[in-house]
Formats: sequence, C-alpha cells, structure tokens
Amino acid sequence: MLYMDSTTHTIETLITETELKVIVATLAEQIYRKYHNQEIVLVGVLDGSYVMISDLARALSRLGMNKITVDFMGIDTYGSGTTSSKDPKITKDLKHDIRDQIVIIVEDIVDTGYSLSVLQALLLARKPKKLETVALLSKDARREIQVSVEYIGKHIPNEFVVGYGLDYDGKYYRELPYIGVVKFS
Ligand code: IMP
Ligand code: MG
Repeated sequence: MLYMDSTTHTIETLITETELKVIVATLAEQIYRKYHNQEIVLVGVLDGSYVMISDLARALSRLGMNKITVDFMGIDTYGSGTTSSKDPKITKDLKHDIRDQIVIIVEDIVDTGYSLSVLQALLLARKPKKLETVALLSKDARREIQVSVEYIGKHIPNEFVVGYGLDYDGKYYRELPYIGVVKFS
C-alpha cells in the first residue's frame, strides 16, 4: 500500500488479521484462566487500544466471562511525529471508581514504557484490589523504564508499526485490519 504524504512510504505487513485473532484469543484465555469467576474492569488506553479492547472484551465474553466493565483513559504521549514525548498528558479520565476492583490496563503497544508507568502509578493511587496490564505488542529493545506487563501478545522489533488501532502521525492507518511496518523510501 502506498500513501502520498509529505514523505512517501509503504506499509509492509508484519502481523496478519488471522495472526491477530490468534494472539488476542490467547491473551483472553490467559485472563480467563485467572479471573473467569470474578468481576474485572478493562481500561483501554486511548486512542490506540480501541480496536484491541473491543476484540479482547468479546473474546472474553465468548469464553463465558460476563462481569466485565469497559472503561477508557486518555493519555497523550506522541502528539504528531513518531518519537515518544516524556511528558504524557491525561486527556480523558475513567468513568468508574476502581477502588477494590480487579483492573486490567489494555495497551496497544509498550515502547519506552513511559506512558504505561505514568498510567499504572495513577491507577494504583486509586487503590484497586489488583492492577495488571495486557499489551498487544511490546518493543523490548526500546524500553527505557521498567514496567510490569503481565500479558504480552507479541514481541516485535524496533520499527514503527501501524494498523489495528495504531496510527501514523496522529491520524492515518488506525483502520487497517492488520499490523504493518512503515517503510520510508
Ligand atoms: P511509550 O510511552 O514510549 O511506551 O509509548 C507508548 C505509546 O506510544 C503507545 O501506547 C502507542 O500509542 C504509541 N506508540 C509506540 N510505538 C508505536 C508505534 O510503533 N506505532 C504507533 N504508535 C506507537
Ligand atoms: Mg497507546
């Protein structure tokens, strides 16, 4: 696929739709095994995880979990451009009180780890019974800060990826049903 912008680039498929389905189903099984008879709150990190949380919540439902609250938190780390800012901003807060709840943060990708560490600290201060994180992707080589991620879908190399919720330049490619790597020419 080719998109004409200020820079010309192509998107190379890294994770197909079929593989994404398997990855999300596997993550759901891990969460199900641990929490199937309990109530959980899924916290989707906006904007990137809207696709992931939607598929994950339905995968949990198919497994038989029915006490799931879906909530969202907005955290802005990138603005436009492809390098992470170290001063993330909370742009939308949760609707629900998570005190004494089992809370699972749903992230699209963990890169440097800064946004997740900010979010984890913020949510821990609200005294949940348990706080865990599920991430579809992890770029381990880019990690600058230690964060715990209990469930990881796939470890990927240090390349900028788009699709399945992940954007390029704050706008494009979130709608791709697969994950691709942006290649500049
Ligand atoms: P971190 O704070 O550096 O870990 O950045 C995490 C956030 O940056 C993720 O939740 C994504 O929204 C975004 N991000 C990191 N890497 C990529 C990428 O390769 N493509 C698109 N967004 C990314
Ligand atoms: Mg994100």
